[in-house]
Amino acid sequence: MLHGKRILLIVAGGIAAFKSLELIRRLRERGANVRCVLTDAGAKFVTPLSLQALTEDKVYSDMFSLTDESEMGHIQLSRDADLLVVAPATANILARMAAGLADDLASTVLLATDKRVLVAPAMNVRMWTHAAMVANVETLKKRGITFIGPNDGAMACNEHGPGRMSEPEEIAAAIEQMIGGERTSASAEKPLAGKRALVTSGPTREALDPVRYISNHSSGKQGHAIAAALAQLGAEVTLVSGPVSVADPRGVRVVKIDSADQMLAACLDAGRVDVAICAAAVADWKAAKPAASKIKKKAGVAPPSLELTANPDILATLSKPGARRPSLVVGFAAETENLVANAIDKRTRKGCDWIVANDVSAATGTFGGERNTVHLITAQGVQEWPTLSKDEVAMRLAGAVALQLGRPRSIKAAE
Ligand code: PMT
Repeated sequence: MLHGKRILLIVAGGIAAFKSLELIRRLRERGANVRCVLTDAGAKFVTPLSLQALTEDKVYSDMFSLTDESEMGHIQLSRDADLLVVAPATANILARMAAGLADDLASTVLLATDKRVLVAPAMNVRMWTHAAMVANVETLKKRGITFIGPNDGAMACNEHGPGRMSEPEEIAAAIEQMIGGERTSASAEKPLAGKRALVTSGPTREALDPVRYISNHSSGKQGHAIAAALAQLGAEVTLVSGPVSVADPRGVRVVKIDSADQMLAACLDAGRVDVAICAAAVADWKAAKPAASKIKKKAGVAPPSLELTANPDILATLSKPGARRPSLVVGFAAETENLVANAIDKRTRKGCDWIVANDVSAATGTFGGERNTVHLITAQGVQEWPTLSKDEVAMRLAGAVALQLGRPRSIKAAE
């Protein structure tokens, strides 16, 4: 948490400047006050008005503005901050920092500051690996400047490699590590205190006989991270998990099951909850008649045919209207094509409030991997989230749950 922390965000001129808008939102969600300095080049990519609207503060650009100097001198800008963040940090601003130039407001503030500085580089891969840049980065690191990223990946200039600015969530987490930690009140720290949550996670196994089963590649990483995040925000969590090798999250009641039937029974046994999040990859079908003993392979006999029958739909069951229905039911949609359209349809068919849609085509590595790229689909629309670690997806989702459950009924009803 960043309650009461003051961050001076310097937005320089690069295509990644659009991510600075998202960064402001992530920081404000954590309780920080954000004030912006926008360079002339930065203003080619984002408008002062957008920054002003998101920070609810004046945006500073001009070193020679008499009004700004009388209201807030450039030295005062850095004095007033707990941390200076340069995002995106272009090749140009990093070079000017390394050289100690003070030829505009951003570079002057950076030269005049005695506060810690975090930079999030963003530039073409060849610029990032150029000997001049390598030397500048080394100089800045020696002076105590902290770097986050750049990340590896596809770039706006159609090249690939290190140079992408870190995602806003990653930068916000780094800022939290640098200056966070002091929390204001128990209710801000534990917004889900007094709330009960149910989470399903992992795969189910549907027996064909005592030694064989139908299942899938879910590792439980995403569902377990969600249970941990809800518990961290103060909820009393029951996690119903299929067979996984990830560790049980701390502070969570874990019920271990094998099949979809057992998962449904365990969910109903959990009693009334305020929020249910179904992240498990439940097998849609099971054997109509599982064999009581191992099915034998016999020479010259054709392989047995498999008759399948539908499993109960746990998400749809929990979403049914009635006194037992949780205030908020969240499903996942694992899709390999038409991600958003299929997920919107799934939300309606299953009757849940929100759907977290994720692309699970083989190339994404979502099943079993460490990262996830999701869309959050609600009655209000579709939010596209950046690629995040599964822990970050979990914490962001838990934060959204806390916001939703904390809203007065009249607001919910008005939506
Ligand atoms: O476990 P990981 O390796 O970390 O991977 C995470 C994940 C990909 C498993 C997870 O993020 C995810 O997408 N989980 C949902 C997988 C799934 O089964 O999706 P679906 O589109 O088939 O099902 C839609 C929703 O209905 C899901 O919330 C599912 O839990 C629920 N469902 C499905 C079938 C059924 N019989 N009962 C259900 O409750």
